[in-house]
Amino acid sequence: MSAGTEMAIRARGVTKLFGRGTDQVVALDGVDLEVAEGEFVCLLGRSGCGKSTLLSMIAGLTRPSEGEIDMGGRRVGMMFQDSNLFPWLTVEGNIHLALRLSGAPKDQWADRTAELLDMVHLPGMQLRRPHELSGGMRQRVALARSLAQDCQILLMDEPFAALDAITRDALHDQIERVWAERRLTIVFVTHNVREAARLGDRVVVMQPSPGRIAEEVRVTLARPRKMDDPLIATRAAALHDKLDKYHVIAEQGRTS
Ligand SMILES: Nc1ncnc2c1ncn2[C@@H]1O[C@H](COP(=O)(O)OP(=O)(O)OP(=O)(O)O)[C@@H](O)[C@H]1O
Ligand SMILES: [Mg+2]
Repeated sequence: MSAGTEMAIRARGVTKLFGRGTDQVVALDGVDLEVAEGEFVCLLGRSGCGKSTLLSMIAGLTRPSEGEIDMGGRRVGMMFQDSNLFPWLTVEGNIHLALRLSGAPKDQWADRTAELLDMVHLPGMQLRRPHELSGGMRQRVALARSLAQDCQILLMDEPFAALDAITRDALHDQIERVWAERRLTIVFVTHNVREAARLGDRVVVMQPSPGRIAEEVRVTLARPRKMDDPLIATRAAALHDKLDKYHVIAEQGRTS
């Protein structure tokens, strides 16, 4: 990282414990993570290694048991695997709610909504209801809603995991474009090695039991990237080997 780079997120010594006594789970143990402004970081790890826990602490939804997370007052948006749209509101209603929460003047809501829907390639969808949309379309509305909050940091927890490969590829292209246009800082959770290699400037590989950062890998491939690029496949294979390695190390730690 070049000297003078502003950090959007600094997590220092973050530990998270759940439960008590013999039932206690160390979800995260002494995690240090810095994310530079404008960086696209993927958190990669098998199930249960603390990815969602770390993300929800960055979002301020839960507090660390120890350590601290500093975002310098930046605004944070969050996207989950499920779009979490309000089913009784139209697309427009869902986005208006986010605009209202961000304090945007009401006379700008219609224009801002149209602009955001254009940005996620859903022009004219204002009056649709969530159940009338495909899973991929719902995730794009969820993305528009996150952007409506005018966030500087976007936290994404396996947002495309439930989608088919073709829809996911299209959404990767869109998120990469929106990230560049809006100069967002993104932390993207996934257990998919190809997705991590396709999207990340840096991939933070996590290991389970207890959840820790095992290793960080820079992905220096030019953008925009394409999922079918053989170089992505090579990077993904290397990440897969790392996941296997740290999984075995964690298993050995448990049984020794
Ligand atoms: N609210 C909670 N209460 C108790 N234990 C929890 C809670 N949330 C998470 N955990 C535990 O903390 C550990 C990390 O969970 P977390 O959901 O962060 O993992 P993850 O890496 O996101 O997994 P996945 O890929 O399955 O989503 C797990 O052992 C989980 O059981
Ligand atoms: Mg999770």
